[in-house]
Amino acid sequence: MTKTKIATTAEVKSDKVLKTNANGQSVLVAQVNGKYCAIANKCPHFGLPLAKGKFENGVITCPFHGSEFEVCSGKNVKWVDSFVGLPIPNLVKKAIAMGKAPTDVKSFAVTQEGEDLFVDA
Ligand code: FES
Repeated sequence: MTKTKIATTAEVKSDKVLKTNANGQSVLVAQVNGKYCAIANKCPHFGLPLAKGKFENGVITCPFHGSEFEVCSGKNVKWVDSFVGLPIPNLVKKAIAMGKAPTDVKSFAVTQEGEDLFVDA
């Protein structure tokens, strides 16, 4: 792993995720309650990007099937709950999940040096 600069503090707004990259990996960085956090921009369900998902109260919602993840821990808090933002019945949720069990998204510890933010990636 290599320590990689991902952003400056001025680039990270408290109500948005910033899409950046670290050592060739797409990464999302956010500020949650004053803490800088980063996760992979890759939903563990089908590997699709999370960047355009709704971000609220430190949680990002996958724009494809509604899985939700805490940006500061990567913890999965909801698994396959919708289809491109539309509600779906439980039977359809199971079909879309395709047998994949709820999984956390990869998270990165963020370190700060002055105005610069880094992760090991
Ligand atoms: S790709 Fe994210 S929930 Fe399906």
